Amino acid sequence: MASDFRIAVLGSGKGSNFVSVADACAAGKSPAQVGLVLSDVATAGILDRARERNIPARFIAPGQFRTKLDPQAEEAFIEALRGARVDLVALAGFMRVLKGDFLRAFEGRIVNIHPSLLPSFPGLEAWKQALNHGVKLTGCTVHFVDAGVDSGPIIAQQSVPVLDNDTPETLHQRIQTAEHELYPKCVAAIARGQIAVNGRRVIWGN
Ligand code: GRF
Repeated sequence: MASDFRIAVLGSGKGSNFVSVADACAAGKSPAQVGLVLSDVATAGILDRARERNIPARFIAPGQFRTKLDPQAEEAFIEALRGARVDLVALAGFMRVLKGDFLRAFEGRIVNIHPSLLPSFPGLEAWKQALNHGVKLTGCTVHFVDAGVDSGPIIAQQSVPVLDNDTPETLHQRIQTAEHELYPKCVAAIARGQIAVNGRRVIWGN
């Protein structure tokens, strides 16, 4: 289904969540289209996955910092997103924290997927944090992005069990399978205008 609701996906890695969102849109399960993919990593698989689908994909050099974009890079990302007239910015394994100008440019229109049941285990390798802590249940969270790390209003969560014989790899794989179900559903709900935010609470309408 062609749609005017345009999504950009930002990622630094292999791009499996991008694939789940883009393929749901292409299959008409979501009234949206992915119009642009951006990465801070020139060799990221997400760029290849986008190009295979004829979706415009660009590497933008992140600059001198390790965990954030430098001001010039931030400006280049904002310009690319504005140029593509995107309605929603979906982070999918984008390994840089977004700061003030970026957040203001797309206020209320940036979402992220995180591999734990937030607010447990924000930050890196959340599946390892869950294993090390010994929780019996973990999962994934889709949330709006604010100035903190994995701290914005929660849109939806999906749980998975932690099994006695799990390794970091088996647990991460189970979480990713849940992510690939949850993220396209959330993006579709946003594209349909079903999602409202009231302070910290995200309400799913009809
Ligand atoms: C996902 O596990 C996501 O939760 C985290 O980064 C990973 C990205 O994986 N933020 P992929 O590149 O979408 O396969």
